[in-house]
Amino acid sequence: MPSHFAIYTVYGGAKVINKKVEDILNAQINKEFYSAYLYLAMSAYFDEIGLKGFSNWTKVQAKEEVDHGMILFDYIIERDGNVDLRQIEAPEKNFENPSQIFDLILEHEKHVTDSIKCVAELSEDECDMATRHFINWYISEQVEEEATVSDVIKMLNMFGTENPILYHLDKELGKRLYKPHTYKN
Ligand code: FEO
Repeated sequence: MPSHFAIYTVYGGAKVINKKVEDILNAQINKEFYSAYLYLAMSAYFDEIGLKGFSNWTKVQAKEEVDHGMILFDYIIERDGNVDLRQIEAPEKNFENPSQIFDLILEHEKHVTDSIKCVAELSEDECDMATRHFINWYISEQVEEEATVSDVIKMLNMFGTENPILYHLDKELGKRLYKPHTYKN
């Protein structure tokens, strides 16, 4: 965590985080953990239909979503706020095929992007510039996530979903490795 957050805490008094900002950050933690659930449900579906590479890709994404939630968790603590873990909704489970799932992923990530923008807007409105700065990491992460998902959708659209094509794409997606996400990388 960048040292200026710690400095902000020391000079800001006992509870330095704005309560509205704290609330929206806690809501965002819930969304990130819901995202992990959603990707795990997709991973299980891909396993069931024998697409191990697609399953790997979505499982790696689930782990990254947990990292996104934990970065927010640690940030609230760093700001001497209260972490409020809320009920996680059951994820969508009615999946049809890889194309439908990747369309769903893109739609979901666009919702997450909108939600991150709301965190940015609120922190600016509340003059919480530490959070406004912090949330930039998530804005960049969303650009990367949407682009990666769009690339898979383009491949599915361009090459079709015949078995040999899916076999090769499955091999490609199977290469994705999990790299823990932290605020600094
Ligand atoms: Fe954490 Fe996929 O957004």
